[in-house]
Amino acid sequence: MTTTSKSAENTTIAVRTSSADYDVEIGAGLLALVGERVDALLAGGIAAGKQRAFVVTSPEIDRLWGEQLAAGFPAPLTKLMVPAGEEHKRLATVERLAEELAGHGADRDSILIAFGGGVIGDMTGFVAAMYMRGIRYVGVPTTLLAQVDSSLGGKTGVNLAAGKNLVGAFHHPLAVYADTTTLETLPAAELRAGLQESVKAGIIRDRALFDFLESESAAVLGGDRAALTQVVAASVRVKADVVNADERELGVRMILNLGHTLGHAIEAATGYKQLLHGEAVAWGMIAAVGIAAKRGTVSAAEAERMERVIRAYGPMHGFIADAGELVALTAKDKKNRSGARSFVLPVGIGDAVVVKDVSEAELMEAAVGMVAEARVIA
Ligand SMILES: NC(=O)c1ccc[n+]([C@@H]2O[C@H](COP(=O)([O-])OP(=O)(O)OC[C@H]3O[C@@H](n4cnc5c(N)ncnc54)[C@H](O)[C@@H]3O)[C@@H](O)[C@H]2O)c1
Ligand SMILES: [Zn+2]
Repeated sequence: MTTTSKSAENTTIAVRTSSADYDVEIGAGLLALVGERVDALLAGGIAAGKQRAFVVTSPEIDRLWGEQLAAGFPAPLTKLMVPAGEEHKRLATVERLAEELAGHGADRDSILIAFGGGVIGDMTGFVAAMYMRGIRYVGVPTTLLAQVDSSLGGKTGVNLAAGKNLVGAFHHPLAVYADTTTLETLPAAELRAGLQESVKAGIIRDRALFDFLESESAAVLGGDRAALTQVVAASVRVKADVVNADERELGVRMILNLGHTLGHAIEAATGYKQLLHGEAVAWGMIAAVGIAAKRGTVSAAEAERMERVIRAYGPMHGFIADAGELVALTAKDKKNRSGARSFVLPVGIGDAVVVKDVSEAELMEAAVGMVAEARVIA
């Protein structure tokens, strides 16, 4: 069950899974309050000098927002730096961070603050899961994607040369604080790509969010604080709801994968270099909407609205790939179980299902159309 409470500006969403309970707080200007919130969760342990807080971040985020975060803590924070970029989300960085923690005397009662985008969040959560067999951490996500998606759900990990996120652990944060003002410095393309996860959340589970994204796209894309805060809160609620119902992704959690089967295939086929994750997912969602419309499981009018909103949060980015290769890659999706290809199809705005019977021919038809359009743009 997901409960929501709202103060004047901030929204708090409770994540209640079988293995962890924690709150995600969303608001503008929250950064300065994180220190006192965390210290309160630790019963004053930081202020009393009994517990130490370590921030894992990258130089850029530290330069932009580090002072605001640090100023709110009752004791000095120790900073551990990781350069920005997916290429640093590796075991080598995890080892280096763990060595630095040990060097600074971090113990079982120390707490990590994951301060950055999904890369920092996944890696910090993983370090927290491993260091001394597990210490606590909080998330302070600074990208749209991290605020609405990667910071909650408990999945942490790093990449291998063989593939993304192949090593990891389930380890939930103690709390998540999403300050939407940090999005003001986020590159526009990152904001738009992250918002595709919100479009996804609307399509699979929240018609009101979808309607809001549709009617208020100018405010949302223009970075209007109130509009963004509303979108982040609604998107978090969708993810929290789904995760609460199915923490280990055995059933309903799979609907979060709308657009991701072909999206991941595009990312893999283009070597993760041509598109941001959300840009690839946008193509994947349009393909899924198309397949559902062809099957007649979604009305033509609703399919058209979905596609229009996805494109509004674009623009769609070109890429060069072979349709046959994309279809072949979907067969290798990590989410497939016992050989059957799992595929998420919308059944209407605010509702989606996982099906196992999408045929190669249906995928091929969708992929051919997509690849042709993407090539023209590229
Ligand atoms: N754990 C999960 O459930 C989950 C879910 C989805 C994605 N992920 C992971 O998330 C990662 C992608 O996360 P991301 O999209 O946040 O990318 P990212 O962490 O690489 O951040 C994108 C870029 O924005 C910069 N940045 C971050 N915040 C900023 C700010 N406020 N102002 C200016 N620049 C800022 C970063 O330094 C980086 O260059 C991937 O590794 C993916 O595997 C995890
Ligand atoms: Zn995604």
